Amino acid sequence: MINVFQPTLGADELAAIAEVFDSAWVGKGPRTADFEAAFAAHLGLTADRVTSVNCCTSALFISMELADAGPGSEVVLPTISFVGAGNAVADRGARPVFCDVDPRTLTPDVADVAAAISPRTKAVILVHYGGYPGDVVEIAELCRERGILLVEDAACSVASRVDGRACGTIGDIGVWSFDSQKIVVTGDGGMLSARDPELVARAKKLAYFGLEQFSGFSQAKVADTRWWDIAVSSYSRRSIMNDMQAAIGLVQLGRLASFLDRRGAIAEYYDRELADLSGLLLPPRLPAGHVSSYYLYWVQMDEEIRDQVARDLYAQGIYTTFRYPALHKVAAYRSDARLPKAESAVARTLCLPLHQALSDADVEATVEALRAAVTRRSAETKTLNAAGSLR
Ligand SMILES: Cc1ncc(COP(=O)(O)O)c(C=O)c1O
Repeated sequence: MINVFQPTLGADELAAIAEVFDSAWVGKGPRTADFEAAFAAHLGLTADRVTSVNCCTSALFISMELADAGPGSEVVLPTISFVGAGNAVADRGARPVFCDVDPRTLTPDVADVAAAISPRTKAVILVHYGGYPGDVVEIAELCRERGILLVEDAACSVASRVDGRACGTIGDIGVWSFDSQKIVVTGDGGMLSARDPELVARAKKLAYFGLEQFSGFSQAKVADTRWWDIAVSSYSRRSIMNDMQAAIGLVQLGRLASFLDRRGAIAEYYDRELADLSGLLLPPRLPAGHVSSYYLYWVQMDEEIRDQVARDLYAQGIYTTFRYPALHKVAAYRSDARLPKAESAVARTLCLPLHQALSDADVEATVEALRAAVTRRSAETKTLNAAGSLR
């Protein structure tokens, strides 16, 4: 099977875990601190601007707590968002307000976001679809003008940039995922960054029971002599990373540049080899100054053939998918929004295999199978429609 996503984990990651075993410290410890510092440096930040968590969904939940979202308030998010973002809003008792997206980039423009903002809006959660930064800079300006917190869900954007600024650091809070389908993989894991180090300090407490002191070995507690005492500032969960995950993450971060090279080369190959295929639209060109992580490569076609094309490829061992089904259609959120651009994109879009372990033969086979499927299914649909109009 040619997978649509796949992690690249090998001997170096295994050796890093073996070192953690030997150290007898597998929980959150020195390697987690090293990984946080390395990830902060990768973003161009100091270490006090980030904190690791057990997964990006936890970071989204924490961000909604930091935004003080609650009953009577609203949070705007593109309907093409990960379900964990919608849940993070709803869990606080706030109302998720879904906005439309550009049908080609699947990210909202400023006008889409502005149309969904109300006096009750506490925050906007923005995802950079597929790793494309989209209008994040303009949306950050809008949020700043209106006094609204911007959370960047940078799960697709581990290395995406606009004019050198890392996605996830352009708004007020950024969250990243290192789950098994992402580019940097730690099994499960995530990171949160905030412009205000005070928010990072609060996030650290929220990720660890709400405890005032993170470690009994902090200088203050040792001076107290009773380092086992606890002070809880707000009740919370335990959502932390551990040293096994961090050890893997440190190796993965060192390999990120090579992963990105390969992903970019595959995207370029798809761009070149699919450009002339009638009935198929490719991801729009990146604007000048924008860098993508190439997390998703998406193609768009007539909605009458999309599902059948996916099945044709699956029958040949090529797995495709669609990210992210529209959240305004999820009954639990009780949205009555009508978002025609997003609905059209949902029906027409398919994400092709894109990961650094794909061989040239895999990518060639994908292009060949896609070309054949789109050509055949388009011709069939035309014939059927013509027959229908004769009756
Ligand atoms: C855009 C986006 N945000 C958030 C998440 C949640 O990440 P995690 O699995 O680390 O909780 C995902 C995971 O698929 C995602 O794709």
